[in-house]
Amino acid sequence: MHFKGRHHLSSCWEILNSSFCKPFICFDYLCTDGWLWVLVRWKNSEVLVFLNPDMGILWKKKNKVEMLRKLLRQSYSFHRPTVNAYLSAGPAPWCSRTLSSTSPTSPNTTSPSTVSIDRTSLYNPPEHSHHPTSDSELIKHLKGIIKFRGGPISIGEYMSEVLTNPKAGYYINRDVFGAEGDFITSPEVSQMFGEMIGVWVMCLWEQMGQPQRVNLIELGPGRGTLMADLLRGTSKFKNFIESLHVHLVECSPALQKLQYQNLKCIGDEDAVHDTDKRTVSSLVGAPVSWHATLEQVPSGLPTIIIAHEFFDALPVHQFQKASRGWCEKMVDVAEDSSFRFVLSPQPTPATLYLIKRCKWASSEEISNLNQIEVCPKAMELTETIVERISSDGGGALIIDYGLEGVISDSLQAIRKHNFVNLLDNPGSADLSAYVDFASIRHSAEEASEEVSVHGPITQSQFLGLLGINFRVESLLQNCTDEQAESLRTGYWRLVGDGEAPFWEGPDESVPIGMGTRYKAMAIVNKRQGVPVPFQ
Ligand SMILES: C[S@@+](CC[C@H](N)C(=O)[O-])C[C@H]1O[C@@H](n2cnc3c(N)ncnc32)[C@H](O)[C@@H]1O
Repeated sequence: MHFKGRHHLSSCWEILNSSFCKPFICFDYLCTDGWLWVLVRWKNSEVLVFLNPDMGILWKKKNKVEMLRKLLRQSYSFHRPTVNAYLSAGPAPWCSRTLSSTSPTSPNTTSPSTVSIDRTSLYNPPEHSHHPTSDSELIKHLKGIIKFRGGPISIGEYMSEVLTNPKAGYYINRDVFGAEGDFITSPEVSQMFGEMIGVWVMCLWEQMGQPQRVNLIELGPGRGTLMADLLRGTSKFKNFIESLHVHLVECSPALQKLQYQNLKCIGDEDAVHDTDKRTVSSLVGAPVSWHATLEQVPSGLPTIIIAHEFFDALPVHQFQKASRGWCEKMVDVAEDSSFRFVLSPQPTPATLYLIKRCKWASSEEISNLNQIEVCPKAMELTETIVERISSDGGGALIIDYGLEGVISDSLQAIRKHNFVNLLDNPGSADLSAYVDFASIRHSAEEASEEVSVHGPITQSQFLGLLGINFRVESLLQNCTDEQAESLRTGYWRLVGDGEAPFWEGPDESVPIGMGTRYKAMAIVNKRQGVPVPFQ
């Protein structure tokens, strides 16, 4: 819905008139996608009012208009017929998790809206924040590798073992998301995220000529929440849904089980362990299969790939400038048996990737840095994605936090929503690093001339251009007060920047916007043209 001229505007003034005892003075206002933001002076203070002619006032707050202007400048409406049909489809189909945890195995988990974490801050406290009493299985394993090799291991190998060691890796045996876990991701924040990714996927499917069979692949699906919301959101579009074979690339048996439950799969539970078996999601009747790697997903069909917060979990290598040149930073065991960082005395295999990365940068960019982080696995995965898209057609969407340039030192560890030391009790905290979008772009462009790369654009722009404003509006029309509150905070977290200006609850749970820190990039087969909303 848009403001339709004077009629809507005057309804807003009526709402203002009835909500504020006169006299109030209006200083300024902004209109966008059906919302009006008005700055008024009332009872000697400036108040910002966010309202809609059909719904009345959503919230009021003092003196925060600049932040909102910035957000609104990024938010444009998007008018593709499919999107409009999608966004106006149905009254709000609420999923229960908007008010409670998605995890059927953790019924005590509280609403995701109570937790937020800014994963982009790069602070690593100098002190260890947690002292295990005895070595865990993973710590013994890491020390065993270092002892057996007779020397330190790369940060890349350390990260890979810590996150995905098949016996004791961080992701392998548990659900790590949400209030009870270590961090929260966009799909867990609001159903709108998965729904908007559904809009993107459906638009690409249209650009691909509405093929009758498509492989829809998600890399690292976590709890399966994004895919469940995508399928629920697009369920009315029968031709699209009937074309899908969903493939989930996941290394964690515990998360595979959760994905099976959240997609409401029926039939063969062994499918989660066996790449050749499939089950069916009763949400929409689409077949679902699990795989350990992208290479294992059968090729030969047009393909759409989604990678949300997957690249940030891929192992990075760090290099430090020393008097003898660039040295790789390694993990060793100190005399007191704790882990410590050391520099490699000679060039390491990952140096080849450092050289490759530096070729894509200007000498000025490199000369300003004392430390450089590279992610060989991200370069290799990009090549695999590009090969698949070149041969089978389709495209990939990558959303993650990151930068479009050489990354210096971004690796971080998060436990229970706090940053902790990278070497402290490995396996008990998530490790992740900024995604180097420039390196993905170069890897893709070098791998094939048949694909084009688009973005990155901010998550705020991406979701705004796809029409999240319409979606929030449609959901607000049919919900309880509690759901409306959850929608408002969820919306802010997805598209806002910094602390929510309307928050009136406790300071420690103020919603933090992820709209500018997270970025979206698309890689598509050139036959598909430019994907929405990158035109
Ligand atoms: C940060 S989580 C993101 C989850 C989900 N996409 C979301 O946004 O909520 C990373 C996901 O990737 C999976 N994962 C990490 N490394 C992987 C690897 N090398 N192979 C397959 N899955 C991996 C994890 O188990 C987890 O499901």
